[in-house]
Order: sequence, then structure tokens, then C-alpha cells
Amino acid sequence: MDEKTTTFVRDDSLSVDMPIDSDVFRVPPGYNAPQQVHITQGDHVGKGVIISWITPHEPGSSTVKYWAENSEFELKAHGFYLAYKYFNYTSGYIHHCTIHNLEFDTKYYYEVGIGNTTRQFWFKTPPPVGPNVPYTFGLIGDLGQTYNSNTTLTHYEKNPVKGQTILYVGDLSYADDFPYHDNTKWDTWGRFTERIAAYQPWIWTAGNHEIDFAPELGETRPFKPYTCRYHLPYTASNSTSPLWYSIKRASTYIIVLSSYSAFGKYTPQYKWLVKELPKVNRTETPWLIVLMHSPMYNSYVNHYMEGETVRVLYEKWFVEYKVDVVFAGHVHAYERSKRVSNIAYSIVNGLHNPINDQSAPVYITIGDGGNIEGLATAMTEPQPSYSAYREASFGHGILDIKNRTHAYFSWNRNQDGYAVVADSIWLYNRYWTHPEQTSLALFR
Ligand SMILES: [Fe+2]
Repeated sequence: MDEKTTTFVRDDSLSVDMPIDSDVFRVPPGYNAPQQVHITQGDHVGKGVIISWITPHEPGSSTVKYWAENSEFELKAHGFYLAYKYFNYTSGYIHHCTIHNLEFDTKYYYEVGIGNTTRQFWFKTPPPVGPNVPYTFGLIGDLGQTYNSNTTLTHYEKNPVKGQTILYVGDLSYADDFPYHDNTKWDTWGRFTERIAAYQPWIWTAGNHEIDFAPELGETRPFKPYTCRYHLPYTASNSTSPLWYSIKRASTYIIVLSSYSAFGKYTPQYKWLVKELPKVNRTETPWLIVLMHSPMYNSYVNHYMEGETVRVLYEKWFVEYKVDVVFAGHVHAYERSKRVSNIAYSIVNGLHNPINDQSAPVYITIGDGGNIEGLATAMTEPQPSYSAYREASFGHGILDIKNRTHAYFSWNRNQDGYAVVADSIWLYNRYWTHPEQTSLALFR
């Protein structure tokens, strides 16, 4: 058998949050200076960007100045701001500004703030949507703000394969692990992640740590801090909620789902997904990727079978529409499945085991960003035959799309040197390649 459970177990003694006076949490200098700057895709195809930031003392301005590299021509986009209260916490002024109609494949500089306290950043728009466009995504989940979290971000930055956009599979700040869901942890997390999130889009997925439902504190609006702080282009895909939506980027079609919103038949998310999947044109975007927080295939003890109800409802569609990869987080470890499906069961026929299925996605759990809750080290034994590789270490993934048929996924564990990959697989596009394939595991 070729299932692999590595004996490598990461020392997670550093699973404590970095102290508040750490340099990664530093408040930028200057009165009311914009902080926690982050960007995400702002439309369906990548010509828009949503820029978000927080001013602590007064609203200031919600306007973004921006200009293309090698251009004298300065443009302005006007956004808006909001603020929220959570129990005994009051947020700063949270600005969101969407820039539309950017040129593809172009570097833009942008500036936020006013007076003497402006700050400049830059981003690069993706190439036009098309079938053979190479593009590289980073995969991070369950990051938190511990020393391990910082190592994960540093390894991502230092990876010789340069990610251009991060697919984030949920659980951001872990503020809710602290008394009264200490929302200052959302602020420190925003400052911690700015060093990457201000320069490349993070495609956000909501996790359980974003729910912040706390009736004992009088807080009954689920996802309040998350949705106030992170704005998403959900209306561009005809979604009615920022918790599920889709984007196209380069040669990919990315569907983001919410494990913690109603997903049963007749619910808004279900009805949206039913309409969404047939819209994916694999001639235009060969790579179909799904992000959700709770994994459908997970052989760790932690969160075992939590994704089962979603799997029962949605797995058959992932097979029917030949989803290439499903990325999830939640479990604080790494796991990669073989291409399997378990969709034959119909109450009485007894067909309830995963079987090899070349139309099925690979399921990758990458909830190993390094948060305060530590690693999930306990695994179900024996390793199920559908599970190809599992290891309880922190790390990040890189999905390096080469063309319409080939993509190379690698998982970098934090323990290793920057260039060392612990697990890797060539992914052959489910739509464009013959279903018979062999997995090449390079660099093992
Ligand atoms: Fe989670």
C-alpha cells in the first residue's frame, strides 16, 4: 500500500501568541496612520481590487490614490468606512475601497491615508483569464498569531516558488479563544499579516473562528467582526452572502464555500452552488478549485467526520463537475487524499466505502498555519486507504499552475529549510487530461 504517515512530528512548544510588543504587531508611525492594510480580488475576473485598512483615531479619508507603474497618471477611487462594537470593544474606522477596471498583468502602486500620514503599497493584477495562463497560489489556513504563524509567513515569503495570491482556508485571528472574544486580537492579526496581505490578494474563506456568535455577551450576529473587516466580491458571482462566492483568476475558477452557513437543500448556499457549477467553462478556466474550512476527508482524530454532512450533499457534484482540488483547513495538520469518491450509497445498497475515482478531486487539508491551539497529532489508525499522506507539522502549500493540463502542488513544512518540500504531487487537470494518470512524487 502507498499510504504514508510520516513519523515527523513538529515540536509545537511555540504555540503561544507573540507578545503584544512584538515588531510584527507594530503600529505604523504618524497620527491616525492607516494600518492593517489588506487587499482581495474586487470583481469576478481580476480587474478589480478591494483595498481595506483601518484608521484608529478618526475616519480620515476612504479614498485610494493609485497609478500604474511607469505611468504619471494618478487615479482616485472613493470607498467608505464603517465601525462596529463587540461587547466591550469598539473598532477603529474600517475602510473599504474597490478599484475597478484595472489593466491585467500590471503593477500598480497605491496610497492610503491623508496629510503627513500616508502609506504606499503595490500589487500586481493577474493576467487575463485564459486556459493556458500559468499562475501560482499560496495555501495557508488556521494561521493565528503565534511564533509558528510568523514562521509560516516567513517561509511563504522565502519560498523560491513565488506565490502571487493566497488561497486562505479559514480561521484567521483566533480572537475568540480569548476572554470576551478579545477583538484587539483581530487588530494585531491585521497588522501581522499586512506585510503580505497589502501586496497580494488573499482569497478568504470563513472558518469556525470567524463565527463569533456569543449570546452570553449579547453578540448574536454571526461573523460580525469578520464581515466588517474583510469585504469580498460576492455580488460579482450572484451570491447573496460574502460567505460563499466565486472568482476567476488566470486559468482558475475558485469556488469558496461556508462550512458554517446553512448548506442543505433549498438553502441560499445550496441554491447558489447548484447554479454556479454549470457556469464553469473549463475551456476558459481549466482549473476548478473549491475552498471550504471543514474537510470532507480527514483521518485525524480531531474534527473527525465534521465535514460529513457537507460531503453527503456536495461530493457527488464535485465528481460530476470534475473539481480538480478541494482545499480545507480546520484540522491543524496536513493531509492529502488520493482521488476517491464515496457517492454510491443509497440507504439500502450497502455501498459506503471510498473507491478510486479518477473524476474525483484530490482533498488537501492544510489547516497547519500555526495557531495557538497547537497541532492535531492524533490520527485514526490504521491510515485509511484513501489517505495518501498525512503529517502533523505546521507549514504552507504552493499550487503552481503550469498550463491547462499540469499543476504542481507542494507542501512545505516549517521544520525544513526554505527550499525543502515535504510532500508534493503533479496534478493533471480533470477536464483536460485522460483520467488514467499516475502520480509523480518528486523530491521525496
Ligand atoms: Fe477551524
